[in-house]
Amino acid sequence: MATSTLNGRRIIVGVSGSIAAYKAVLLVRLLVKAGAEVRVIMTPSATEFVSTLTFSTLSKQEVLTSVISEEGWNNHVELGLWADAYVFAPATANTLAKLANGICDTVLAAVYLSARCPVMFAPAMDVDMWLHPSTQANIQRLEGYGNDIIPVGEGELASGLSGAGRLAEPETIVEAITTKLAAIDAEDGKILAGERVLLTAGPTHEPLDPVRFIGNHSSGKMGVALAAALLQKGAHVELVLGPASAKPAEHSNLTVTHVRTAWEMHDACVALWPSMDAGIMTAAVADYRPETAADKKIKKDGDALSLTLVKNPDIAATLGKVKKSNQRLIGFALETNDGKMYALGKMKRKNFDAIVLNLHTPEATAFGGDTNQVTILKADGEELAFERMSKVKVAQEVVGVLIGLR
Ligand code: CTP
Repeated sequence: MATSTLNGRRIIVGVSGSIAAYKAVLLVRLLVKAGAEVRVIMTPSATEFVSTLTFSTLSKQEVLTSVISEEGWNNHVELGLWADAYVFAPATANTLAKLANGICDTVLAAVYLSARCPVMFAPAMDVDMWLHPSTQANIQRLEGYGNDIIPVGEGELASGLSGAGRLAEPETIVEAITTKLAAIDAEDGKILAGERVLLTAGPTHEPLDPVRFIGNHSSGKMGVALAAALLQKGAHVELVLGPASAKPAEHSNLTVTHVRTAWEMHDACVALWPSMDAGIMTAAVADYRPETAADKKIKKDGDALSLTLVKNPDIAATLGKVKKSNQRLIGFALETNDGKMYALGKMKRKNFDAIVLNLHTPEATAFGGDTNQVTILKADGEELAFERMSKVKVAQEVVGVLIGLR
């Protein structure tokens, strides 16, 4: 699976007034290219060097330069909590001094004081300013707050002098942010951070007329448990959900697309699949639909009613057919008999990397219940058999298998 720590990450770039501000333009460009959502905050003096228009065009977001703007009061607390990382590039001697001392006279500083995310400073200034004991004391103070300093470069400076104080190169800053976020992910066990996973869940309803449909008993509970297990590991989840009774809790990394029919689920999945790292297909898709859906309620005119059913698209097989080498696909199979044989056949036919086999016995139905007894069969031949356990636990095991497939 593709692992990009910056994909989907929310990063604030704080720009203060320095000739090196032009490098922040390249930095924002690199971050956006890596898939990050970027918000730029500038000090008023930074706008003398680079216009807000440059940054707002690159980040596709309004640039903040003041706590009060034309739109009214800018909620700096909200922005501070929104971010996964706050990077000051360039950080001038003045900005470092103010932040080391909690002076809050710019929106840059207000967001800094509200931020709970990692904060990194990429300083830029003349060599003597950099070496001055007050600057070095401020740097130490900021490090003491748990902030990171991205080392300055050495060389020719805007003043004409030569020495330490150059802003780190944009690529070096991106690397520092990536390393920092990856280390935090590893600490939090967020091993799927930056990965996008498509999940189908629930039944589909195939209309007969405006008030009736053909459907099944799928509750969507397995899919909702899987969404939670994936989110816990840091993944971004695209849940395509049929009309299920189970509802997922809201989460900033979860997008839910509600669909009704197999064709709607198919279209939503096909649109999402190219940008996904993995897919888990738990939906109980109706294999057939009425050939025509009456536009008015069907009346009970005769003693018998015959329906012609036509085949629905096989969503999992469609995705499996166009699966790229960096994508992983896991399916489910609910069987009443000869489970292993059928499940292996489905894995092959639909190009799954693993399939979760659920044997339906009269005493233990998976539909609607909170437990499940599964065997996970992998395309490499490995077989993992489990005791009956909660769907939450099954979900964790399936996510464990997905992680192992990367
Ligand atoms: N699936 C799908 N689209 C369909 C049918 C199934 O995406 N139209 C997916 C299911 O979500 C599951 C896997 O394919 O992950 C196997 O589903 P299942 O209903 O067991 O298999 P079918 O191919 O429909 O075979 P059958 O009904 O004959 O057992």
